[in-house]
Amino acid sequence: MKILKDSEAVALSAPFPYALVTSLDMKGRPNAMGIAWVTRTSFDPFLIMISIDKRRYSHEGILNHKEFVLNYPSEGQADAAWICGTKSGRDGDKIKLAGLTLVDSKSVKVPTIDGVTVAFECKVADQFETGDHTVFVGQVVGMSGNPDKGRHLYVTADHKLFAMSGDGSLA
Ligand SMILES: Cc1cc2nc3c(=O)[nH]c(=O)nc-3n(C[C@H](O)[C@H](O)[C@H](O)COP(=O)(O)O)c2cc1C
Repeated sequence: MKILKDSEAVALSAPFPYALVTSLDMKGRPNAMGIAWVTRTSFDPFLIMISIDKRRYSHEGILNHKEFVLNYPSEGQADAAWICGTKSGRDGDKIKLAGLTLVDSKSVKVPTIDGVTVAFECKVADQFETGDHTVFVGQVVGMSGNPDKGRHLYVTADHKLFAMSGDGSLA
């Protein structure tokens, strides 16, 4: 076994699922950011946690409204999804810039992104600081999706997106 630096070790643990977190900003406007640090933490209740850097524009919106939606973009949404992970909603309407369409969620005020593979509507049940990020633990209160768009996005060690389905098929 070789001793590794942080960046080498993280690269060797790729790829990572890549999702979009939608939230409302302080003026109630929707925003979406890219996220890789996400995991389910409990069966019952159904809890998901996301880890958000305190500097992100999305951070203050989630902190304030206590809701978010975790959207898994589908295969054709890679370009839009990348914009959401590389531009800030602080600088303008990122949803418009990315060309994404929003639809009403069923159980939260934060909208869902249309055409994603699956979306988990969450109410913040808990939160805690973890180094330079805040973990928001979301209780899942609604789910919607497109079973016909089963391939969602993963990010490689060199920051490229590819799509894979739940059974591991790439095409
Ligand atoms: C592949 C990828 C994964 C990312 N994962 C996270 C993450 O887990 N947590 C986080 O705070 N930011 C993450 N980001 C960065 C944010 O998506 C990015 O800073 C975004 O511009 C924040 O948008 P906002 O300022 O509108 O909230 C990731 C970006 C990329 C490209």
